[in-house]
Amino acid sequence: MNSVLPLILAMLAVTDAAVQVQVNPGALQIGNSRNLNIRCSHVRDKVPTISRLSYLLISFASDAEKPVFRYLASVSSVDGLDYDTTAAVAGNITRGGESWLSLTWSYPLFSRVGLYKCEASGINLSGAARTVSHIVEVGGVRHLDASLFDVIQNQSRDFEQLKTDEERLTASYLSLKSRFDRAKEAHFSISAAHNGRRYYLSSISNVLVANEVDAICALYGGYLAEVDDDAEFEFIKSFLTPYTQYTGVLCSGTDEALENNWIHANSKTMVKYIKWSPSDSRGGRSENCLFFWRPHGWFMVDWVCQQGYANYAVGYLCEIPE
Ligand SMILES: *[C@@H]1O[C@H](CO)[C@@H](O)[C@H](O)[C@H]1NC(C)=O
Ligand SMILES: *[C@@H]1O[C@H](CO)[C@@H](O)[C@H](O)[C@H]1NC(C)=O
Ligand SMILES: *[C@@H]1O[C@H](CO)[C@@H](O)[C@H](O)[C@H]1NC(C)=O
Repeated sequence: MNSVLPLILAMLAVTDAAVQVQVNPGALQIGNSRNLNIRCSHVRDKVPTISRLSYLLISFASDAEKPVFRYLASVSSVDGLDYDTTAAVAGNITRGGESWLSLTWSYPLFSRVGLYKCEASGINLSGAARTVSHIVEVGGVRHLDASLFDVIQNQSRDFEQLKTDEERLTASYLSLKSRFDRAKEAHFSISAAHNGRRYYLSSISNVLVANEVDAICALYGGYLAEVDDDAEFEFIKSFLTPYTQYTGVLCSGTDEALENNWIHANSKTMVKYIKWSPSDSRGGRSENCLFFWRPHGWFMVDWVCQQGYANYAVGYLCEIPE
């Protein structure tokens, strides 16, 4: 298809309802419109001017007063798409239904303002060549000067890139989170909320190392449970009561460094509160960690910080702020 052809055809063309041009957006805002789409379509009428369509063609004239149309694109039943434009071009000639040709520019500039002509060409029922056409005008408002528009266009492109990156990151985050949640559900029983925290009771383990389980609590955004007052102790005690399969549950508090000087290993603060079991005989230098102890009604005892607990069913309790 060469650009001389539409000029000749333009002289022969008549306007016909069967050929339509849609423009989106109707009024171009240079600097604000992301896309400009020109869509030319042809639907066969009941009494068709054109009974067999051979091609659709879009041409453009920048001067609406003295239009000189320049070829942009065409779609033909024989040759398919042909174009001479930076727009994204799509189209199809169909026998019975709608035939169409569509041009889309990203970040349209002021040079897109003008007249767009859509021509449909084919033969009528007597076999004579017919061309019908429709012209639309695209007006434009310049919102930004060109250099600023350039910046915005670049930023817009960067933003698209970021969005794609973010979608990819979100997808891997969600997959990681779902694996993490599955591990959490498999390993912990989780309390109701109390003062903006939840308590995670680990499953029973044969080996506990206080430092290591503190790190596991940290993985879930918390620390070994630090009991600060009666209310917190009572809440934890009610939470633990149904778990009769446990002998003891490790919580925060150690006097490993200095006998009877109980500190929280995570926050390095003094332990303010210990609900000692009245029936526990304190273990001295060999027992430097705090446990809730079921045989003593879940009151607290001091016991060894790390070893295998073959004869006991023990777990640990994390405190996780929400
Ligand atoms: C064109 O339309 C025909 C029939 O409607 C369809 O089979 C064909 O896939 C279409 N081609 C394109 C490129 O859209
Ligand atoms: C086909 O077009 C020719 C030339 O314009 C015209 O003379 C003829 O009447 C048309 N036939 C029909 C069926 O419209
Ligand atoms: C926009 O991006 C193009 C190509 O990446 C670059 O050449 C141009 O300098 C950029 N313009 C501005 C204003 O950043």
